[in-house]
Amino acid sequence: MIKSIVNFMRRSPEREAEENEEVLKARLDPSRIPRHVAVIMDGNGRWALRRGMPRAYGHRAGVESLRDVVRVSSEIGLQVLTVYAFSTENWKRPQEEIDVLMNLLVEYLHKEIDELCRNNVRVRAIGKIDELPAHARRAVAVAHERTKNCTGLVLNIALNYGGRTELVEAVRAIAVKVAGNELSPDDINQEVISRHLYTAGQPDPDLLIRPSGDYRVSNFLLWQLAYTEFWLTDVMWPDFRRVHLLKALVDFQRRHRRFGGLN
Ligand code: FPP
Repeated sequence: MIKSIVNFMRRSPEREAEENEEVLKARLDPSRIPRHVAVIMDGNGRWALRRGMPRAYGHRAGVESLRDVVRVSSEIGLQVLTVYAFSTENWKRPQEEIDVLMNLLVEYLHKEIDELCRNNVRVRAIGKIDELPAHARRAVAVAHERTKNCTGLVLNIALNYGGRTELVEAVRAIAVKVAGNELSPDDINQEVISRHLYTAGQPDPDLLIRPSGDYRVSNFLLWQLAYTEFWLTDVMWPDFRRVHLLKALVDFQRRHRRFGGLN
C-alpha cells in the first residue's frame, strides 16, 4: 500500500501525460474523428518572454509541439491538419524574427521529411508562397514533391497566408473566368468559391484549436470556418502536446453540430 502511494507520488509529468493519453485515446470514438483540424499556433513569444528568453526560443519550442501534433494526427487518422505558421500580417514583425521563422520552416521540413514520408503525410503549403524568401520556397517545393504521392494525412502549412487575401485571389480567378466566358455570373455559388480557395477539394475544418488564451480568428480560413467548432485553451503553443490535441478531440465529439438546423 505504502509502496504504491510512493510510486504514485513519484510519477513524472511525462508518465502522467502518457497515462492521460491512453485514457483520452480510449475515449475517442474512431467513427467520429473530425476530418479536418485547423490550429493557430499562438503564444510562442509570450512563452519565451515569461522565461526571460528571446522570442526565437519560443518559436523553436513551438516546432516541437508541431511535431507532436502532426504525429498524433497521423496516428488517429485525421484527413487534414492545417497549421497557421506565418500570416500575411507577420511581415510587420522585426526582420530578425521573420528570418528565424523562415529558417525554422526550412529546418523543420529538412529534418522531418523522411519521417513525414514514412508516415504517409502529404505536405502542402497554402498562402502566397511565391512571396516567400527563396530558401523557404525551395524547401516547400522539395517537401511538396517528396510527399506528393502520400495518401495519409494532408498537412497544410499556412505560410504568408491571409483569409482575406485568399478570398481576393479566388474572386479574381473567378472574374477572369467570367471575363473569358468560361463561367457565367449565374453559375457562381458557394461550391465554385470553395473550389477557388487554397483548400480546394478539402473538407472545411471541423475543429479550430487556438491556444494561448486569445479569442480571435486572426484572418485564418475565413470562408472555411463558417461552421467550425472552436476549442480554446490558455495553454501556450510551446506547451501544447499530444494530450491537448486528444482532449480537444474528445471535447469535440461531445458537441452537437446543427449547422443552423435543429438536430
Ligand atoms: C504566433 O505566436 C506564432 C507564429 C507567428 C509562428 C508559428 C510558428 C511556429 C510554431 C514554428 C515555425 C513553423 C514551422 C512550420 C516550422 P506569437 O509569436 O504571435 O506569440 P505571442 O502572441 O505570444 O507573441
